[in-house]
Amino acid sequence: MSRRIAVAADHGGVDYKDRIVALLRDAGHDVADHGTHSAEPADYPDYAHSAAEAVSSGDADAGVIVCGSGIGVSIVANKSKGVRAANCLTAEMARLAREHNNANVLTLGERLVEWETAREIVLTFLTTPASGDARHTRRVEKIHDLTEC
Ligand code: RB5
Repeated sequence: MSRRIAVAADHGGVDYKDRIVALLRDAGHDVADHGTHSAEPADYPDYAHSAAEAVSSGDADAGVIVCGSGIGVSIVANKSKGVRAANCLTAEMARLAREHNNANVLTLGERLVEWETAREIVLTFLTTPASGDARHTRRVEKIHDLTEC
């Protein structure tokens, strides 16, 4: 199924970001590349916020955002209304982020995860449905009640 995916990175994640853009376009997805576009130092909040807002507004169905650790962009993405961003180091974490947390943004750390693992994480994240189980749905709703977003 073709989906609209917002992708972004800072300089610490731009190599994987470019590979992910190509991977997802090859798979037939509609990919919006929110930058950055070079290895010049760039402030991760600017790029992460842009991609997260695309998910928040409904312009994108999901987001993938990369920095050196995945941590900074995850903190930023979770500021956007309706965004549930999960920083994943393994495909198992990506599966759980979808099934249990219905995460809609994946964050990755290029300096922490080998490319083949990162590729597996991205594909797992984008192909695993939320479980739909009542207990998981209730817990996700409680997150949104807490943050009023
Ligand atoms: C940039 O050096 C680095 O701090 C950034 O990519 C990210 O890891 C922040 O969380």
